[in-house]
Amino acid sequence: MNTTPNTASPARVYLETYGCQMNVADSELVGGILRGAGYVHTDSPAEADVILVNTCAIREHAEDRVLRRLSELAHFKRARPATRIGLLGCMAQHNRASLLGRAPWLDLVAGPDSYRRLPELLDHARFDAAVDVRLDRGETYAGLNSDHAAGIRAYVTAMRGCDRFCTFCVVPYVRGRERSVPPASILAEVRELAARGVKEIVLLGQTVNAYREGEVEFGGLLRMVAAIEGIERIRFTSPHPCNMTDPVIDAMVSEPKVQPYLHLPLQSGSNSMLAAMQRGYTVEQYLALVDRVRASIPKLALSTDIIVGFYGETEADFEATLSLMRTVRYDSAFSFKYSVREHTRAHPLGDSVSEDEKARRLAAVIELQQAIALERNRESLGHEVAVLIEGPARRGGGMMAGKTPQFKTAIVPARPGVEPGDTVVARVEAVTAQSLICARV
Ligand code: SAH
Ligand code: SF4
Ligand code: F3S
Repeated sequence: MNTTPNTASPARVYLETYGCQMNVADSELVGGILRGAGYVHTDSPAEADVILVNTCAIREHAEDRVLRRLSELAHFKRARPATRIGLLGCMAQHNRASLLGRAPWLDLVAGPDSYRRLPELLDHARFDAAVDVRLDRGETYAGLNSDHAAGIRAYVTAMRGCDRFCTFCVVPYVRGRERSVPPASILAEVRELAARGVKEIVLLGQTVNAYREGEVEFGGLLRMVAAIEGIERIRFTSPHPCNMTDPVIDAMVSEPKVQPYLHLPLQSGSNSMLAAMQRGYTVEQYLALVDRVRASIPKLALSTDIIVGFYGETEADFEATLSLMRTVRYDSAFSFKYSVREHTRAHPLGDSVSEDEKARRLAAVIELQQAIALERNRESLGHEVAVLIEGPARRGGGMMAGKTPQFKTAIVPARPGVEPGDTVVARVEAVTAQSLICARV
């Protein structure tokens, strides 16, 4: 009889993730694919046979961080030369030409559409560097099982890629063309998550509300997910202002599970900047949309993304952004200094705003937003909120933390019998710009 030698224990994979929620979801997918191929997960890079870093290319700063981290991780390979180190995700796609030169100890470079082939690529990487950065306009990873993190909220990819080509943005180049995951695959994943006790689903895509697969558009998808028993709350990110169609707004209005929170990326409050960015809307159209969603969806919370210092941004353009923030009064905002990205349409223009001036503008945006967020939160003082409990509060002290329907962090006193996944009603007693501190009612 033939005896196969017992080749020790299964290979251990350590996986680190940078970037947006789509990357977090992709890492869960990679975890599932590798588990299916016999790998096991480890939290310790020192013990790993395979070290993977899933990367982001959105700003230069994000890339620099990853390159520094990769050279740290390379130490583990020096200690255990058989360890294979791989770079996944958006940077793999963005820097495919230069990566192996800059980080010669990399064994594997795989772009966002190559994860299905990871087990073969890793086998190949035992002998020679494996590079696969083909973009595949048909790849949706439908039907593959992700290794979702434990918790009451789960992220589910509904759409991949982006076709909008905003002039500052690298996403269409690193993630390829828009494609929607078939509804059957999304619904099967959500059903499985519901069976595991997940209460909240966040549907993901770079322009998630542009979702369309056959007859099903995004409003229809929201309704289908809402019909799944056990799921209590549904959110989505990022919707694009140009795709906030009536069916999407109608689903938000009529489906109580779809939460009253909308991330509506603005980028700039100046029409000339919006045109230069090719965002596809004017300030007037954006404000009309804000009015429409606020009129339709009671107690809607709004958040946004803002870029300061885009090529050509004058002081007057920047003031227009601050002024629009005062008009809309966002509940929260993510703001960024413009970072010139290779391959994008704005790349040849370079920078026109100095780093110091970008920093000054960014600080002004952050300060204004903090003040507005605090004011907004103060408006909820004394109100009752439904808090979906996620776990113990970071500050401890017998408190638990969760989110309100508006996606605000709420801190509530723990009580025996209250567990993560329960929804409790609490009264807002004190606020900061970031959170609501509540008493139980
Ligand atoms: N699809 C989303 C945005 C995804 S990227 C949308 O269209 O709104 C997340 C945010 O990063 C963007 O909204 C933008 O504010 C910021 N961003 C993208 N490219 C950038 C760049 N080159 N420099 C600075 N910020 C950028
Ligand atoms: Fe980038 Fe624009 Fe696509 Fe958003 S919509 S991912 S900003 S190109
Ligand atoms: Fe970054 Fe890629 Fe997301 S570039 S923001 S990780 S889609």
